[in-house]
Amino acid sequence: MKIPQAWQLCIGDQYKMPAPRHRPTSRRPLWIIVLISLVCVLLIGAYIYPARHYPECYFFASSVCAPFKDWYPAMPARILTDDEMVSRVVIKDILSMPLVPSKNPKIAFMFLTPGSLPFERLWEKFFLGNEGRFSIYIHASREKPEHASPLFIGRDIRSEKVVWGTISMVDAEKRLLANALQDTDNQRFVLLSDSCVPLRDFDYVYNYLMGTNVSFIDCFQDPGPHGNGRYSKHMLPEVEERDFRKGAQWFSVKRQHALLILADSLYYMKFKRYCKPNMDGRNCYADEHYLPTLFHMVDPSGIANWSATHVDWSEGKWHPKAYRARDVTYELLKNITSIDASYHVTSDAKKVATWRPCLWNGAKRPCYLFARKFYPEALDNLIHLFSNYTAI
Ligand SMILES: *[C@@H]1O[C@H](CO)[C@@H](O)[C@H](O)[C@H]1NC(C)=O
Ligand SMILES: *[C@@H]1O[C@H](CO)[C@@H](O)[C@H](O)[C@H]1NC(C)=O
Ligand SMILES: *[C@@H]1O[C@H](CO)[C@@H](O)[C@H](O)[C@H]1NC(C)=O
Ligand SMILES: *[C@@H]1O[C@H](CO)[C@@H](O)[C@H](O)[C@H]1NC(C)=O
Repeated sequence: MKIPQAWQLCIGDQYKMPAPRHRPTSRRPLWIIVLISLVCVLLIGAYIYPARHYPECYFFASSVCAPFKDWYPAMPARILTDDEMVSRVVIKDILSMPLVPSKNPKIAFMFLTPGSLPFERLWEKFFLGNEGRFSIYIHASREKPEHASPLFIGRDIRSEKVVWGTISMVDAEKRLLANALQDTDNQRFVLLSDSCVPLRDFDYVYNYLMGTNVSFIDCFQDPGPHGNGRYSKHMLPEVEERDFRKGAQWFSVKRQHALLILADSLYYMKFKRYCKPNMDGRNCYADEHYLPTLFHMVDPSGIANWSATHVDWSEGKWHPKAYRARDVTYELLKNITSIDASYHVTSDAKKVATWRPCLWNGAKRPCYLFARKFYPEALDNLIHLFSNYTAI
């Protein structure tokens, strides 16, 4: 706080100092006044100069303010707003909260879909024999689904329209979480789409998710146009550009994180207002940035940084690869289930690719439990192969 105080002192002195002509003699020697003025000028200069030359600086917290930091190493971080203070205490308590004990921990499978789910019969194969260890929730945003499996009947929640890329997608995720959290036995929450299929048998998925305290939320920093290029300075001061992250929306989260998503309004409002298609001539998609950024800021070590749902972007097109019936072979599924490193590539000209080993409680393991995107026509092949490809 040295600078603001010195600054105030300087102004204060100017205010307090009576005009010289009303004052017969100054008891203070001239050199003190000159010295104070000089210090003031220097401090004001130091305050303004780096701010102009490092526009990314926001107050003194940003790491790009290194030259300035060197001058005043004791400089504290930016003073938090009221909303941030509230948000931090609430989030801190949620993260350290003991859960209501459950004798019968379940996984909530939450399907976000426009209408009917083409793979209900495959999922039924996956769920059968595991009654009491899962629950199903369906948010059908366009039309009332017809259910092919009795397990899915009566599991539709009240839904609203979802417009791709907008905050309505996040709202639907929150609606699913709010429904699923009502059952205190639900300890893990998996978000799936209509084109998702299981890659493993139920036991494997259950042990994989329940056996770790990490949530599987995809999160990486992309300096390119499809990453930081979508950031808006309107998100300041709470969300700085260096904290902006990207990731696929298909999460598998633990209960505390599910609560945290519902408890957050501060960061949610920032993304609702300033991350949307055609915002300031840019397209920002809240479903790709809100949760990765939120968790990067509030609990970075609590997330795996990869999604447990596989998708293949390797063709480099606008949409990921979608599998037709003829693509679905034992070899393809074995290939996907054997992947044990997560892949990210930046969208700038450098196209920097990173492979990170998928570490589960510190040990390298296959990354994926689910996969997308599959055409409905792939159903019969998947059912036919299911017992084979899920055998470990
Ligand atoms: C997760 O955290 C809870 C509370 O800290 C602990 O009791 C539990 O053993 C942890 N589970 C795993 C799988 O690490
Ligand atoms: C995820 O990435 C963050 C850095 O953004 C890191 O701090 C954290 O440890 C990573 N999570 C795991 C489980 O490695
Ligand atoms: C499976 O992986 C191998 C080795 O990476 C590759 O040569 C082959 O084309 C893949 N097959 C399918 C069906 O993806
Ligand atoms: C399933 O696996 C067995 C043994 O590995 C093999 O003989 C059989 O042909 C496989 N079935 C299919 C449909 O791939």
